[in-house]
Amino acid sequence: MSDLTHDADVWLQLVNNGAVECNDGNRVWAGQFDDWASAAAEAGGGSNPFGLSSWLTRQGKLALEARRDPSLTLLSQRPTVLPFALAGLSRPSVLDFGGGSGWVFERATSGGLVFSKYTVAEVAAVIKAFGAGARPPLDFVPLDGTFGHYDVVYSNSSIQYAQSNELLVRAIAESEPNMVLIDELLWSPLDIDWFTVQVNSDVPTVVRFVSTQILAEQMHTLGYRLVHAGAICPIAHGYPFPDMASFGKDRRIRHRLSMLFQIA
Ligand SMILES: C[S@@+](CC[C@H](N)C(=O)[O-])C[C@H]1O[C@@H](n2cnc3c(N)ncnc32)[C@H](O)[C@@H]1O
Repeated sequence: MSDLTHDADVWLQLVNNGAVECNDGNRVWAGQFDDWASAAAEAGGGSNPFGLSSWLTRQGKLALEARRDPSLTLLSQRPTVLPFALAGLSRPSVLDFGGGSGWVFERATSGGLVFSKYTVAEVAAVIKAFGAGARPPLDFVPLDGTFGHYDVVYSNSSIQYAQSNELLVRAIAESEPNMVLIDELLWSPLDIDWFTVQVNSDVPTVVRFVSTQILAEQMHTLGYRLVHAGAICPIAHGYPFPDMASFGKDRRIRHRLSMLFQIA
C-alpha cells in the first residue's frame, strides 16, 4: 500500500490494549428534554464518551478495517454516503467535521478516491489519539478552529453531540464548500431541537435530535439548498436503532438521515 497516512502501529496498539466493542446493541436513550442543560444535569455533568479508550479503539479499528477492505465498513459497523457523493469530483478537498479517527478518509481512499486535502475537525482527545500519526493529505484540527476553503464539508453522526449547529455553521461559512453532506443525523421533524441522554457502555452523554427545519433554514441563510434527504439504514448487522417508545409520538423517528446540500 503506497498511501498510508496513519501510523498503523498506533492503531494496533489501541486495538490490542482495549476491549473492542463494536455492537451498539447496549445503547439506551432516556428522558426527553427541551434544552441541553436539563439533559446534561440528568447525565450527571459533562462526560465525554469520545475520549474513552474503548471508543478510540473502536474508531482506530474502523480506520484499519476501512483501509484494508472498504466493503467491510460498508456492510458492518458504520455507513457513509461520502464516497458516492464525491463520485466524479477530481481530487476534492474535504473537511470532515467530527470525523473521529478519519476512517471515512481511509474507506474512500481504499475505494480509489484521491483527495487534495482531507481535514478532520475534532475534540482534543481524538486529535491526541489520531492526529500524530496522520500524514497529508489527512490532517486533524480543532472543531472551533479557523478553516480555509474546502470543496466539501462532511459530518457523520457528529452534530447531534453538539449543543447547537453553531460550530458547524461557522465552519461552513468560513470554508465556503460547494457541497455539504450530513450523514447519520439523529433528526427531528419538529421546529425545535430536543435532547435526551444516551447511555453507551455505562457512560451517559447528551444527544440532540436536530430539527431538520432549523438546519435547512440555517443552510438556506448560508446560501445552500437541500438536494437530497434519505434514510441510511444501518439497522442490520448488529446496529439496531434504539427504541423510541418512551418518547412523544411526534418525536419518534425510525432511521437516521443523510442530507445533501449544494450551493444555490
Ligand atoms: C458518534 S461519533 C462519530 C465519529 C465519526 N464521524 C464516525 O462516523 O465514526 C461523534 C463524534 O463527534 C465528535 N464531537 C464531539 N463534540 C462535537 C461537536 N461539538 N461538534 C461536532 N462533533 C463533535 C466526537 O468527538 C466524535 O468523534
